[in-house]
Amino acid sequence: MRWRTRACSFMEAWSPDISKMLGLPQDVTLSGISIPAVREAMEEPLPPGPALRFALEDMSAKRRTEFAAGRICAARSLRKLGVIAEFPLPVRDRLPVWPSGVLGSISHCATMAVAMTAMKSRYCALGVDVESLIDPGVALEIQPSVCRDGEWIGLENHVPCRARSVTLLFSAKEALYKALYPLTGRFEDFHAAEFCGCEAGALVLRLTHDWTSCWRAGTRIRVRYAWLDRMVVSAAFIPGKP
Ligand SMILES: CC(C)(COP(=O)(O)OP(=O)(O)OC[C@H]1O[C@@H](n2cnc3c(N)ncnc32)[C@H](O)[C@@H]1OP(=O)(O)O)[C@@H](O)C(=O)NCCC(=O)NCCS
Repeated sequence: MRWRTRACSFMEAWSPDISKMLGLPQDVTLSGISIPAVREAMEEPLPPGPALRFALEDMSAKRRTEFAAGRICAARSLRKLGVIAEFPLPVRDRLPVWPSGVLGSISHCATMAVAMTAMKSRYCALGVDVESLIDPGVALEIQPSVCRDGEWIGLENHVPCRARSVTLLFSAKEALYKALYPLTGRFEDFHAAEFCGCEAGALVLRLTHDWTSCWRAGTRIRVRYAWLDRMVVSAAFIPGKP
């Protein structure tokens, strides 16, 4: 698949070492790719293989690009883990179907896609999110739906710029949600977890109510983050067996 190879070669030249910036353990693998590189590569005339063609059929051009970018990152991340999987990963209930024994998560924003993977024998939950810096006006508008006043005051002490703090908290909560959703199967809004502290390169979030009988109110989860210019990548990885 020439377009895929081309996109991957673009990535080698572009991608910073996000894993290192996030301080990921060695058994959690992460890959990122520039969306413009994938868009350019997908303009190549070569048709993709039948499985991918089927997956892409009904998608808009934007959706097709982000989907492909996420799947390229997933394949690369799995390879780093030593797992060769079907490409692209199939979809069930809007979620990628990861190979047996593997946990994974995909995210994309306008300029970048990322995927993170780890073995189920070591981790019970994994969620990644990438978010472009939210415009200051939008940040002001959405702040009440992203956090309560008490959280905001705590966070503002650590991250004084509102656009950055709202983007960061939004992204951290999405990463947490994406980590737990495969275990809970339940929608939770942004007030289902709250900011309760900062550590170097990480926000600590606390569940505000029972998400399930296993994921109780008060459970604290650390979400690591790294800024890449005007984007933030957030990663939640929870050790243990489900
Ligand atoms: C599911 C959700 C988090 C996805 O976030 P998004 O910013 O729209 O999109 P992202 O690019 O980060 O992630 C999309 C990818 O996540 C995966 N995904 C989709 N739904 C998911 C879910 N419920 N759980 C985990 N992963 C999911 C898919 O791989 C998808 O990419 P793909 O369709 O190309 O395969 C978001 O749509 C949502 O529902 N948010 C509200 C819930 C929430 O975050 N609550 C906070 C609780 S504290």
